[in-house]
Amino acid sequence: MTADLPPGIERRRFDGRERFATRGEPVYGEPQDDAGWRAWDAGRSKLGAVLELGMDPGFDGEDSVLYLGAASGTTVSHVADFAGPTYAVEFAPRPTRDLLGVADSRPNLFPLLKDARAPETYAHVVEAGLDYLVQDVATRGQATVALRNRRFLAPDGRLVAAVKARSEDVLTDPDDVFADVLDELREGYAIVETRRLDRFHDDHLAVVAEPQAGGDP
Ligand SMILES: C[S@@+](CC[C@H](N)C(=O)[O-])C[C@H]1O[C@@H](n2cnc3c(N)ncnc32)[C@H](O)[C@@H]1O
Repeated sequence: MTADLPPGIERRRFDGRERFATRGEPVYGEPQDDAGWRAWDAGRSKLGAVLELGMDPGFDGEDSVLYLGAASGTTVSHVADFAGPTYAVEFAPRPTRDLLGVADSRPNLFPLLKDARAPETYAHVVEAGLDYLVQDVATRGQATVALRNRRFLAPDGRLVAAVKARSEDVLTDPDDVFADVLDELREGYAIVETRRLDRFHDDHLAVVAEPQAGGDP
C-alpha cells in the first residue's frame, strides 16, 4: 500500500532513487533538487519511515500538528513544510536552539522548550482541536505521554507515534514491550494500524490511533 500523499509531500528522484520529499530550506544535509524539494531521509526520521513503509496517516496538507520530541528539527521540519500550524515540543535546550533556527524560514513552526509529560505547561499556547499528535519521545512512559496529550486532539484527530522499546525497558523482548504500550494506549485511543519500523529503526513500532473518550491519566 502507498500512502495517499497530500499536496506538499511528493515522490521525487534524488541520485537516481525515488524518495519522499517536502519543499523547504534544507535542515540536515539532505539533498535538494532544483525545484526546492528536499529528500526526507527515512533512516533519520521515523515518520519518514512510516511513509516509506506504506502506512497512511491520512495527512491532507492543511493539518494542524502537535509534535512531541522535536529534537533539532529533522522530522518536524518536513512536517512544517507540508502542514499548517505545527507546535514542536522538546525539553532539551541544546537541540531546541537548533530548532529555533529551523523555524526561522517556517513561520508555521512554533518551537516550545517544554516537557511533554506536563501538557498543562503549554496548554495556554497550543490550540485544542488539532488534527495530529505526532510523537517521537525516547523516554519511559511513552503511552502515558500520548494519553496526557490527547486533550489537544480533535475528536476525529489522529495519533501517529513511534514507540521505542528500549526506552521503556532494555531487557524485555520488544514485542512484549509493544504489547504493554498498546494496552495502555487503548485506555484512550482506538488503534488503527501498527507497523514495526526495524527496516529503518531498530526496535521501534509505529502506531496510528484515534482518540476515544475516557482514559485520562
Ligand atoms: C529520538 S529523538 C527525536 C528525533 C526527532 N523526532 C526527529 O525525528 O527529528 C527523541 C527526543 O525526545 C526528547 N524528549 C524525551 N523526553 C521528552 C519529554 N518528556 N519532553 C520533551 N521532549 C522529550 C529528547 O530530548 C529527544 O530530543
